[in-house]
Amino acid sequence: MAREFTSVGVVGLGTMGAGIVEVFARNGIDVVAVEISEAALERGRAHLTGSTDRAVARGKLAEADRDALLGRVTFAVGMDALRSADLVIEAVPERLDLKQRIFAELDRVCQPEAILATNTSSLSVTEIAVATARPEQVVGLHFFNPAPVMKLVEVVRTVVTSPDVVADLEALCGRLGKVDVTISDRAGFIANALLFGYLNQAVDMFETGYASREDIDAAMKLGCGLPMGPLALLDLIGLDTAYEILNTMYRHGGRDRRHAPVPLLRQMVTAGLLGRKSGRGFYTYERPGSSRVV
Ligand code: 3HC
Repeated sequence: MAREFTSVGVVGLGTMGAGIVEVFARNGIDVVAVEISEAALERGRAHLTGSTDRAVARGKLAEADRDALLGRVTFAVGMDALRSADLVIEAVPERLDLKQRIFAELDRVCQPEAILATNTSSLSVTEIAVATARPEQVVGLHFFNPAPVMKLVEVVRTVVTSPDVVADLEALCGRLGKVDVTISDRAGFIANALLFGYLNQAVDMFETGYASREDIDAAMKLGCGLPMGPLALLDLIGLDTAYEILNTMYRHGGRDRRHAPVPLLRQMVTAGLLGRKSGRGFYTYERPGSSRVV
């Protein structure tokens, strides 16, 4: 019989982490949401309340259901709050040393049977798993942005992940209304391995002045039926996150030129143009976090 998963922890409440918290709470599962400081916790809380308030305003969520959803989430600074979680999902920035440190700490704090999952989008799940004494209970659980909306979850098994753990997480994805694909541990898994070369090429096309940002995005949206063009999508993903993903895939995916980050991307990140989250990327937004282009 599949595991129950009555209490889930999420470490890191950036765009992805806060979205993952919402996915679980929406589906009736208690969540402990953890950050490293009160300020970071507040940003995560604001992301969650903003997203659920928007759903209420659009008539998609009743106020009572929003309140019940928020009531399922406990916010905490520090990982001690994760002692009784059945599953913890880490969603901190894409740095291997940071993730390994967090997994070593989770291994120490969490109950022995807890499953530890990483939402990494390009790092090696195996290298993260070996930072613990329970690598057979470590798995990749890769959500897509915006997590409450995108249907896919990539379940990533390493050569030592227990088949039972994989089966339990596949069942959990169904409970969350998601569709899972299970794959082995390779840079970028399926979706990012195919997506990021294309996104990088779009930046190159813009940088060389071949086409305007609007024309690049219109071509892919209207010509190929995609929900948004590549430059708008980079703004949604976050240019810093996209840069890190490309860099990791380039270094660990056989130095494929398609994944060598285009210089403009790095310059924009250095200048603080991170996309929607900072209020400016390829487009300028009404305010940080907004989807409205001005
Ligand atoms: N949080 C929660 N819900 C959101 C949301 C958010 N951030 N953004 C949009 N939504 C919801 C809206 O409330 C709305 O819900 P409803 O249909 O119940 O009313 C629904 O999504 C549609 O939103 P909108 O009408 O405002 O806008 P669109 O129809 O233009 O859809 C979009 C927005 C869902 C972002 C759509 O443009 C899209 O699918 N874009 C592509 C996204 C994509 O490719 N994501 C993957 C990125 S790669 C990745 O994540 C990998 C990682 O490793 C980086």
